[in-house]
Amino acid sequence: MDRKNEAVAMDLLLEDFDPTAVVAEPLPTVVTSNVNCDLIGKFAEDLKGSLEKPMVLGRNVHTTCLAVTEPEANDEFTGDKDAYMASVLARYRKTLVERTKHHLGYPYNLDFDYGALTQLQHFSINNLGDPFIESNYGVHSRQFEVGVLDWFARLWEIEKSDYWGYITNCGTEGNLHGVLVGREVFPDGILYASRESHYSIFKAARMYRMECAKVDCLISGEIDCKDFRAKLVLNKDKPAIINVNIGTTVKGAVDDLDLVIQTLEECGFKQDRFYIHCDGALFGLMMPFVKRAPKVTFKKPIGSVSVSGHKFVGCPMPCGVQITRLEHINALSRNVEYLASRDATIMGSRNGHAPIFLWYTLNKKGYKGFQKEVQKCLRNAHYLKDRLRDAGISAMLNELSSTVVFERPKDEEFVRRWQLACQGNIAHVVVMPSVNIDKLDDFLNELVEKRSTWYKDEKVQPPCIAADVGTENCACGQHK
Ligand SMILES: Cc1ncc(COP(=O)(O)O)c(C=O)c1O
Repeated sequence: MDRKNEAVAMDLLLEDFDPTAVVAEPLPTVVTSNVNCDLIGKFAEDLKGSLEKPMVLGRNVHTTCLAVTEPEANDEFTGDKDAYMASVLARYRKTLVERTKHHLGYPYNLDFDYGALTQLQHFSINNLGDPFIESNYGVHSRQFEVGVLDWFARLWEIEKSDYWGYITNCGTEGNLHGVLVGREVFPDGILYASRESHYSIFKAARMYRMECAKVDCLISGEIDCKDFRAKLVLNKDKPAIINVNIGTTVKGAVDDLDLVIQTLEECGFKQDRFYIHCDGALFGLMMPFVKRAPKVTFKKPIGSVSVSGHKFVGCPMPCGVQITRLEHINALSRNVEYLASRDATIMGSRNGHAPIFLWYTLNKKGYKGFQKEVQKCLRNAHYLKDRLRDAGISAMLNELSSTVVFERPKDEEFVRRWQLACQGNIAHVVVMPSVNIDKLDDFLNELVEKRSTWYKDEKVQPPCIAADVGTENCACGQHK
């Protein structure tokens, strides 16, 4: 374009340009097709054709979702919309109270009181960037975050000057970070994880396009170090990045960290050829207080540990903690001028409220308070397992765990009512501090009563779960 034409084009542009103009019709048209239902239906169809056992998926939320509606022109005057929203929220609150009462299947401690922190709700607290380097955004809570990280560093025995970490959005983010650090340290490393590792580990392998070797498990759910050895020997030329479970999702099995390290060493992997990430999402905060548990400590050659904050600690929003060695983090981080901070986290913006919630509970309970709660959970888990067995129901409880595995209840409505997590023929209850004996009794009484109706006809028998829990824990017709 020559100079003259360029000037004409600019004039035209300026003529049309009104910086305050907005689109005439802001309401997008409604898309009417029922895409979600179709997709779910298709998914179920696909499963039918595959060899996989069809899974029971949750209900389609589109049938119950709360539509966002446009305010009426006179809403401000009538207050109708405010009244409508208040009634929706009040009903929702009631549901939360009821659902909290009947929750047993997920490892969340629902018993907390953060009333003192409601005053902070009015602030957009964001710790974007590195926890140890302030950014230009001043509404942050790094002083709480680093205090919490120091507490965990002490728990897992690493000096303040030797660690790096941050408060994550959840245990999954800790795993994504731990595996990423491992891959940055060993770009051609193979990721080893037991089959019963959380799905986030395999997601990390897919996201980072890493070669991943799935290792078999013992019946307890623990990693089978014989199979681990066999797989290591096949890949001696490549460094090893290993996920060690400090509590598996379904059976609460704790991998033997010492045996994993010993296996690596016996297969010729020196410390500069392996990286261990410990997924302590579930029991990372419980194990340090259990006498016979393998000790998770940075005095051993591990690279990182992560834990979920909303699980054993209890927190209204999902969160977690990730701690790694400072020496590893430089490989991952980049300075960001616009932040005046450093980027070494998975996310950009980071929840600045979560560290304050964690800080609050850690201060109130302390190491001693957690120890007491761990003891209570283990005791209650044994109570549940014993009562299930007394009632003739197959059940297993790993020695270091508060996850009680038992036969999957026949009725999905019962599963939903108690919010049980199920896999194949098994279900579990994770005994957290909010699960007391009264709640367990209510659950057990209801289960026993319902079971007598599910299996009143001799032709319908409870499932055999020996393959999942071992014959000694199975109470089916063949094994009892
Ligand atoms: C062993 C294990 N790792 C990771 C996770 C993921 O944690 P989050 O749900 O906090 O992302 C879970 C969740 O239950 C888990 O059991």
